[in-house]
Amino acid sequence: MGVSIKTSEEIEKMRSAGRLAAEVLDMIEPHVKPGISTGEIDRICHNYMINEQHTVPAPLDYRGFPKSICTSVNHQVCHGIPGERKLKNGDILNIDITVIKDGFHGDTSKTFFIGEVPVIARRLTGITYECMCMGIRMVKPGIRLGDIGHAIQQHAESHNYSVVREYCGHGIGREFHEDPQVLHYGRPNTGLRLEKGMTFTIEPMVNTGKRHTKILKDGWTVVTKDHSLSAQWEHTVLVTDAGYEVLTLRAGESI
Ligand code: MF3
Ligand code: CO
Ligand code: CO
Repeated sequence: MGVSIKTSEEIEKMRSAGRLAAEVLDMIEPHVKPGISTGEIDRICHNYMINEQHTVPAPLDYRGFPKSICTSVNHQVCHGIPGERKLKNGDILNIDITVIKDGFHGDTSKTFFIGEVPVIARRLTGITYECMCMGIRMVKPGIRLGDIGHAIQQHAESHNYSVVREYCGHGIGREFHEDPQVLHYGRPNTGLRLEKGMTFTIEPMVNTGKRHTKILKDGWTVVTKDHSLSAQWEHTVLVTDAGYEVLTLRAGESI
């Protein structure tokens, strides 16, 4: 499939899906405290999406994924399955929310601090957020995906971190994962040229150790092979004439 260009009607629907996904992260924040389990966080988000937002949690039953959100703790990179595990002081937790509203997807994630978090984890999380923002700020018609991947990789590696390669950002719209693949590494002046009306995610996963990952026996949870810490942030972005519009911006956030 080629890369779809959204019409203005479709963009309106993407805006509302994006806003709703962001609102789930805002809603859940006060609950993200030591002692709560990732399964409880999933249940609260699920009920909010279904009963308050009237959105569909896209992960549920997606290729057999069993829950409504992804929760990835510490050395878990992404696609963690919510369950009995209780969060404890010092953990970092990525919550990844994807909603479907009116046939369109909004996809966003944030890394939360649980209580007092060690400086190594705070630093990683901050640099990973900067990586995402640097990528987003480059978005405009004519720029190439390799330019964006390169900038993200450079920023992470300049802090002696590594960028995960097996998972990437993606086009998004009527489908959860559309073309193009948005790699968080790459070479300048290579790859797809962006055009107005494209919508895709930027969602770098950055590790304190080596970049390599493996999947746990549950078939989903991705962890760093060397058990080093991993952080991730994700936004859904629209290419505009002027540059970009972040469709999943949260209250008080500006990029
Ligand atoms: N939300 C993830 C992403 O950013 C994908 C999760 S797929 C699932 O692309 F099946 F694990 F939910
Ligand atoms: Co995504
Ligand atoms: Co996501």
